[in-house]
Amino acid sequence: MEIPLFKIHWNEDDIDAVNRIIRSGLYWCMGRDIEEFEQEIAAYLGSDYCVLLNSGGSALQALMVAYNFQKGDEIIVPSFTFIASAYAPLYVGARPVFADIEEDTYGLDPEDVKRKITNKTKAILPVHYGGMPCRVDILNELAEDYGLLLIEDAAEALGAKLGAKAIGTFGHSSIFSFCQNKVITTSEGGCLVTNDSTINEKARLFRSYGRVITGDYFAGGTDLDYVESGFNLRMSTLLASLGRSQLKRINDLIVMRQKNAHFLIEKFNDLDEISCPMPPNKDFFSVYQMFTLRVRTGQKKRDALMKHLSDKGISSKVYFDPVHQYSVFRKLGHHTIQLPVTERVASEVLTIPMYPHMTKEELEYLSTSIIEFF
Ligand SMILES: Cc1ncc(COP(=O)(O)O)c(C=O)c1O
Repeated sequence: MEIPLFKIHWNEDDIDAVNRIIRSGLYWCMGRDIEEFEQEIAAYLGSDYCVLLNSGGSALQALMVAYNFQKGDEIIVPSFTFIASAYAPLYVGARPVFADIEEDTYGLDPEDVKRKITNKTKAILPVHYGGMPCRVDILNELAEDYGLLLIEDAAEALGAKLGAKAIGTFGHSSIFSFCQNKVITTSEGGCLVTNDSTINEKARLFRSYGRVITGDYFAGGTDLDYVESGFNLRMSTLLASLGRSQLKRINDLIVMRQKNAHFLIEKFNDLDEISCPMPPNKDFFSVYQMFTLRVRTGQKKRDALMKHLSDKGISSKVYFDPVHQYSVFRKLGHHTIQLPVTERVASEVLTIPMYPHMTKEELEYLSTSIIEFF
């Protein structure tokens, strides 16, 4: 049996959604589904504004520009993340300041964040790892105490909650990714979410060449002006329509992920050498965008498990190596900082296959292969 790291959940409605736009022969770029999808995401999260973009990374970039961060500014980020979170400050010449993570959620450790705040700090940018909420409530209080912005990188956590509140609505703004391994996907894509009308407007300008259109774009008779330079970071209508179809079943997709995660957690209950992604308490509603094991006995054993799984036809991957140690950040001198929890966790994690429609046979084969290894 071969088990990939993830499979994409698609159905006939997804195909119809894309076909509907193709068949219309109109507005494949900036059609009405863009606005509809934005409104649906905002409503799903309970937020005022959503701006669709062509990736989660573009959403981070748009926010950096919209908040007018610049050279000399510092933004506190984790190193245990996808590189895009740490790139965000670089897009505008600001400096990422890496803080350590905590052991249970793998999110930013509020205590270390506090230690990293200086008079140059402008924002805290926490990540919700693999669909697990980090302690964003505490981080938000910290941001308020120090007069900082809180920008959530919720790329992996659409649908997650902390208490009754949706992840992505705790801070001043947030981003989500719709890349193919995310909770819902448009192949590539992303969005930012905010309650701040100015940030919404600035991000829209940046997304589309700084263009202001007055009047009804679809009626044709419009005035336009270009008021600032910008890029084309837009999502296409085809993908927005696909996203709308995916969003309709997000709650089912999350339940399927959670069921599979619980199955694996149960199976691995007696294995002392590994720990599973467990919410610290029932307030933490994880959407299990990934299922990441931690091999407590260290990197050698983790690497051996990876090899064992590969021999069995099962994919697995290390998400993530500490990003501050990649060449791009070495060149900037970031690699010398000490992030002991990040380094230990990164040397012990292994993400194993988990996706909504995994079969019983796949789950059994995967779990048996792991139990057999230990
Ligand atoms: C934590 C995190 N931030 C940002 C991104 C960037 O999203 P995208 O790949 O859509 O640019 C990702 C995507 O993998 C991510 O996992």
